[in-house]
Amino acid sequence: MASPGFSAPGGVAVVGSGLIGRSWAMLFASAGFRVKLFDIEPRQVTDALVSLRKEMKMLELSGYLKGQLGAEEQLSLISGCSDLQEAVEGALHVQECVPENLELKRKLFAQLDKIANDHVVLSSSSSCLLPSKLFAGLAHVKQCLVAHPVNPPYYVPLVELVPHPETAPATVDRTYALMRRVGQSPVRLLREVDGFALNRLQYAVIAEAWRLVEEGVVSPGDLDLVMSDGLGLRYAFIGPLETMHLNAEGMLSYCDRYSEGMKRVLKTFGPVPEFSGATAEKVHQAMCVKVPDDAEHLAARRAWRDGCLMRLAQLKRQLPQ
Ligand code: NAI
Repeated sequence: MASPGFSAPGGVAVVGSGLIGRSWAMLFASAGFRVKLFDIEPRQVTDALVSLRKEMKMLELSGYLKGQLGAEEQLSLISGCSDLQEAVEGALHVQECVPENLELKRKLFAQLDKIANDHVVLSSSSSCLLPSKLFAGLAHVKQCLVAHPVNPPYYVPLVELVPHPETAPATVDRTYALMRRVGQSPVRLLREVDGFALNRLQYAVIAEAWRLVEEGVVSPGDLDLVMSDGLGLRYAFIGPLETMHLNAEGMLSYCDRYSEGMKRVLKTFGPVPEFSGATAEKVHQAMCVKVPDDAEHLAARRAWRDGCLMRLAQLKRQLPQ
């Protein structure tokens, strides 16, 4: 069992204490790491510490707090910091969580590059900025990678590790091990690609969903049911490739039986949608019937979603893999 203050051999710095930075702080603390939380807006750090306390206490009460330490012990591992250099000092890993803006992130990584030692891993939470753009020209490029989480990271464990062409394999290995240690499920991309793996899959699904609605094949509400009451249930446990393997007598048998049908259907897919105009209006109205787009309704529905994900995560931990 990890003890408070365990930080083998250093702590973690989280840079940017918004939505994602707060989640990372909770995850690292849940595994016993000391976390220094830095933000350019000192108020953000103060707010983060207050909201982390509230959330971790609530999780402890409901039995969903991760890790073996109590909420109070985990909270004692997280401290706010008003100086970037101080936050990074002695850290084994820096997790950048500032807004998704290439220039902003490049500026920050240039600062980190100046103060980093030769051992710390410099990791970006970026959802879609390519490592070759983010880390170009940095002296410590071998120590840099993207570790892209999925929202909300506390309940959805996947993290995509995306290297720069010059990232050292040891940097990826260390980050992979760290992610496993904090209970996340890392996957390695062997080279960078726009959208990484998760968003490429997600956008493929969104594009076909949009086309089916645009072409009048199915209503927006029914389209979402195809996923939430159909494919999604299966995909919470097995991926599309294992689905193929299980849906016939193994993968080769599936390809043998279904490849012609798949290719025939795939050839009918239309062009990239515009995601605007009459279809956008139609989908928007349909979504608003279910969840009006004011802040209160959206927040309530997100809280419901996160509660469902929290329970699903717990169920997955209990079931044999
Ligand atoms: P956010 O807007 O909630 O938080 C960003 C924080 O960074 C703010 O507190 C801001 O004050 C701070 N900040 C701005 N400039 C800074 C600087 N130079 N130094 C230190 N702090 C600075 O953003 P969010 O949603 O947490 O996103 C952070 C990153 O995580 C982005 O790259 C985003 O693409 C990625 N991400 C976001 C997901 C999401 O669903 N929100 C999911 C996965 C990744």
